[in-house]
Amino acid sequence: MAEEPILQLNNIEVKYHEVILVLKGVSIEVPKEGIVALLGANGAGKSTTLKAISGLLKHEDGKVTDGNIMFMGERIDRKHAEDIAKAGIIQVIEGRRVFEHLTVEQNLKVGAHLRRDGGSVKDGLEMVYHYFPRLKEKRSETAGFISGGEQQMCVVGRALMANPKLILLDEPSMGLAPMLIKEIFNIVTRLHRESKIAILLVEQNAKLALSVAPYAYVMETGRIVMDDTAEKLSENPDIKDFYLGLTDLGARKSFREVKHYKRRKRWLT
Ligand SMILES: Nc1ncnc2c1ncn2[C@@H]1O[C@H](COP(=O)(O)OP(=O)(O)O)[C@@H](O)[C@H]1O
Ligand SMILES: [Mg+2]
Repeated sequence: MAEEPILQLNNIEVKYHEVILVLKGVSIEVPKEGIVALLGANGAGKSTTLKAISGLLKHEDGKVTDGNIMFMGERIDRKHAEDIAKAGIIQVIEGRRVFEHLTVEQNLKVGAHLRRDGGSVKDGLEMVYHYFPRLKEKRSETAGFISGGEQQMCVVGRALMANPKLILLDEPSMGLAPMLIKEIFNIVTRLHRESKIAILLVEQNAKLALSVAPYAYVMETGRIVMDDTAEKLSENPDIKDFYLGLTDLGARKSFREVKHYKRRKRWLT
């Protein structure tokens, strides 16, 4: 029998302000020590999914109104964000928000408040600096003045300080130069390989996500419309067209050319 997944979303429905239905029955699994990608266009409901898991939804007057979320065999969808964090799930929210007036190291230390076990702050910093040597160099600098890529490293590092079992990573590549994106994804891959922390990675950049995650889900307007191995998804013509933006010849398509995707999809649902 296959090992029980670390995280399971079972048919969850999410509403904001009690009336705005955003997730319409979403089921996702993250295997123990696995890395899974959640793809989809802007507004599909990816961040909402992550917030439903981490409990941050409640701060936006959102609620899981149906289905359930299981983490390590325990139901978590009614728990408070802080308890979920202490159970081992840390979300790195979109937009790499650092505490701008604090130094890099002070930012990292903030993450240690959510540490599950008695492990010391010193051990946490050592681990972060091991994966992000750039942060060690910049440890005394004010976080508001380091580059965007370094800020992204800083928020991932802050998540690591909590010693999580699962990291929810929301669009780490957004707005960064290709070189930095590559650097960050290399670190994330290495971190996952060595530390065995499970990762649920949200990305609009499907090509990038499929290069690090062996399995992915595709979300559209609050529903999962496809899920498969990265290998299969990379070969799927609809994914190639719409999310990878590539034709068979490897050239980038215009949006007008891929619009037929939406029409074709209607026949599938
Ligand atoms: N706090 C909120 N209140 C009401 N609607 C929201 C809120 N947050 C997001 N939404 C709506 O939910 C939908 C999904 O948003 P989101 O989860 O942020 O998508 P994604 O991360 O895939 O871009 C969008 O239509 C968005 O406008
Ligand atoms: Mg988002």
